[in-house]
Amino acid sequence: MILFSPMSPLVRYDVRERVAVITIDNPPVNALSPGVPEGISDAIARAASDPAADAMVLIGSGTTFIAGADINIFKTLKTRAQSLERSEAVHARLKQMEDAPKPLVAAIHGVALGGGLEFAMACHYRVAVAAARVGQPEVTLGIIPGAGGTQRLPRLCGAKTALELCTEGKPLGASRALSEGIVDQIVEGDLLDGAIAFALARAKAGERRKTRELQDQIRDRAAGLAACEATRAALAKTARGARAPFAAVDAIAAALALDFEAGSARERELFAECVLSHGSRAMVHLFFAEREVGKIPDVPKDTPVRDIKKAAVIGAGTMGGGIAMAYANAGIPVLLKDVDEAALGRGLATIRKNYESTVAKGRLTADAMARTMALITPTTTYEQFDDVDVVVEAVFEHMDLKKTTFAELAAATRPECVLASNTSTLDIDEFAAASGRPAQVIGHHFFSPANVMKLLEIVRGRHTSKEVIATSLALGRRLNKVGVVVGNCFGFVANRMLAYYMREAYLLLEEGASVPQIDKAVTDFGMPVGPFGMQDIAGIDVGARIRQYLKSVGKTRAEGPQSEVPDRLYEMGRYGQKTGAGWYKYEPGSRTRIPDPLIEHLAAEAAARRGITRREVQDEEIIARITTALANEGARVLDEGFAIRASDIDVIYCHGFGFPRHRGGPMFYADTVGIPKVLERVRSYREQFGDYWEPAPLLERLAREGRSFHASEQPA
Ligand code: CAA
Repeated sequence: MILFSPMSPLVRYDVRERVAVITIDNPPVNALSPGVPEGISDAIARAASDPAADAMVLIGSGTTFIAGADINIFKTLKTRAQSLERSEAVHARLKQMEDAPKPLVAAIHGVALGGGLEFAMACHYRVAVAAARVGQPEVTLGIIPGAGGTQRLPRLCGAKTALELCTEGKPLGASRALSEGIVDQIVEGDLLDGAIAFALARAKAGERRKTRELQDQIRDRAAGLAACEATRAALAKTARGARAPFAAVDAIAAALALDFEAGSARERELFAECVLSHGSRAMVHLFFAEREVGKIPDVPKDTPVRDIKKAAVIGAGTMGGGIAMAYANAGIPVLLKDVDEAALGRGLATIRKNYESTVAKGRLTADAMARTMALITPTTTYEQFDDVDVVVEAVFEHMDLKKTTFAELAAATRPECVLASNTSTLDIDEFAAASGRPAQVIGHHFFSPANVMKLLEIVRGRHTSKEVIATSLALGRRLNKVGVVVGNCFGFVANRMLAYYMREAYLLLEEGASVPQIDKAVTDFGMPVGPFGMQDIAGIDVGARIRQYLKSVGKTRAEGPQSEVPDRLYEMGRYGQKTGAGWYKYEPGSRTRIPDPLIEHLAAEAAARRGITRREVQDEEIIARITTALANEGARVLDEGFAIRASDIDVIYCHGFGFPRHRGGPMFYADTVGIPKVLERVRSYREQFGDYWEPAPLLERLAREGRSFHASEQPA
C-alpha cells in the first residue's frame, strides 16, 4: 500500500517488510526543491512513531537519488542574514534526521550530488548500486557544500579525500566511495531489496551510526591540516581568481580544528560569503546557460534525430585529424580521406603521436589506443562513402575547392547523409547550393585541437533542415562537445567577436602597452592565455591569410583601424611557436615565452605612422577596452539574430576561449559591469579613438530601458 505524506506530494511513504520506505519523487533529478526536505523530515518523523516500521530507507524514484539543492534557490538569496538563516534551518533538519531513533539507510542509484550526498551522509548508513556516483560539485557553482558536507565528509573519509571531492567537484564512482568509507555496501541486485535487508540487519543488531559523532578519520589533526595546507598551495596555481575552492579548504580545516557545532557555524559563514559572490552568480548562470543552449525555439524537442553509425572526414590536416579523433574517441567508425597517400600518412602519423603522448601520460592504455585507432580508416577515394551518416569537410579554406568537394560528396553519399563543413570563414550557403542538397548542409565548426576543445559551433544555413540541426546537437553531445547553434555570418559568433578582441589588443599595443603587459592583464582577469600568447599558439599566418582573403573580396574582419604589426610579423616569417618566434621568442623545443624588444620597435613605428603618441596604459584600461569590444560586438550579433541568446554567447566564450567561468562569459560580465557603464565606455572610446567605436543599437536600447542582456531574455 502506498500512502502519501500529508505535507508533500513530492515524497512517498510506505512500509515493506517492517521497513519504512521514503521515496523522493521530484522529476527530473529529485532536486531538493521546496517541499522535498520537509517531506523527508515528515516521513522520518512518521516512521519514528510507526509501530509497523523497525528501520527506514531513503530512496529516489526515477533515474537518480538526489542531484542536490535546487540550484534556482541560490538566486533568491540576497543577503548574508538570509543565507545564514536558511543554512541554520538546513543544518538543524539534518541533525534531526541523524537523531532518528531507528536506523536510516540511504539507497543510492544515479547520483547523490551536493545536498544529495549531504542528506545521504545525515543518514546512518549508505548503500549504492555499482553504477552510482557521489560527489560535492558545489565548487563548480562557485559555492561550498552548505548542508554540513564539509563537516560530515571528512568524518567518513578523512581530510585528504574530502579535500579532493570538495575542491575539484568531480564525483566518485561507487567502488571508490566504498573503499573511502563514504558508502557502506554495494548492492548487486535490486537496490530497494538490498537496502531493506541492510536496514533490517542494523535494526536487529540495534545499530545506528551518526556521522557527526565519528572521530577516527579526523583524529590525526596535524596530518589533516597539513593536507589542507598542501591543497591551498596547489590551488594557488590552478584556481586563480576563484574563491570557492579555498573556502572549501577553510571549512574542512574547521572540521579538523573545531567541534561539529563550531565547524558547522564556520561552514555557514563561508557558504554565505560564496553564495552571494559575483563568481557564484556567474557560475550558476552558466549551469543553466549550458542546458538552455540545446533548446532551439523553432526546432521542437521531438524533432527526429538520425542515428549516426559511421562518419567520414575530408582532409587529414590538423583540423581533419583532430575531428577524426573526436569521432573515434566517441566510438564512431570514421573514414579519413585525403588526396594522396603522402597526405594521409602525415595525418595519421600526427594522430598516432597525439594518442601516444596520451598513453605516455597514463591517461590511455596501449590497448585502448589500438582499439581507437582501428576506428579510423584512411582512404583516398569515395568508395566506402555509400553508407556514411555524416561527413565533415575540413579541406583548405578555399571557396572553389569547397564547392567542388560538396558536389562530389553529394554524389558519393546517400541523400539523407548530413554534409557538414568545418569552415571558419566561408559562407556555407554557397557550398550548400553547390551540393544540390542544401537541407542536409550545416557547419560543424570545431576549435583547435578538435579532439580536445569542447566547443562546437553548429552553423545553420539558410536551408538547413530542422532534423539536421537536431541531429547535429545530439551528435555534439556524443562527441563530448558543447554544441551551440549559430547563424551564418562572417566568422560566425566566436571568431567574429574574437576579431574585435584582437583588434583592441593590437591597438593597445600601438598606443603604448607591451605584449607581456597585455597578456598578463588578461590572464590576471582569468583567461588561460593572453591574446598574443594565444596567437603564437594558433599561428600568426592563419589570421594573416584570412585578412589577405578578405582584402581580395573587399572586406575586413572588424570595422575601424587595423594594426599593421601582425602583418609585419607574417612577412618576417614569424608565425608563432611553430617557427620559434612570433609575438614572443622561443628557444628550440621550448614553449616558454621570451619577450622580444623587436615588437616594441614595430609597435612604435606603426604608432608613428598613424600619428599616435605612445603613453602609459593601465591594466584596468586593457580589460575595460577588450571586454567592452566583446560586449558591443556581442550585442550586434544578438540583435542581428546570429546568436539565439546572450547566454549562448557566454557558453561559446567559456568553452571556446576559456573565458573565466567565475565571470560568467562576456555578456554576463557586461551585465555585472552595468549596461549604462558599458555604453558610457563605448561613447567615451568613440570620442577618444574614433567613430569605429559605435554603440550597438541593442546596447543603447537596453540602457534606455534599464535592462541587462540576460534580464532581457527572461520570459515576461
Ligand atoms: N537544481 C535545479 N535543476 C537541476 C538540478 C539542480 N540541482 N540538477 C539538474 N537540474 C535540471 C537541469 O537544469 C535540467 O533542466 P531542463 O531540462 O529544464 O534544462 C534537468 O534538471 C536535467 O538536467 P541535465 O540536462 O543536466 O540532465 P543530465 O541527465 O545530463 O544530468 C545531473 C543529470 C548529473 C544530475 C546534472 O543535472 C547535474 O550535475 N546537476 C547538478 C548537480 C549539482 O551541482 N548539485 C549540487 C547542487 S548545490 C548543493 O547541493 C548545495 C548544497 O550543499 C545545499
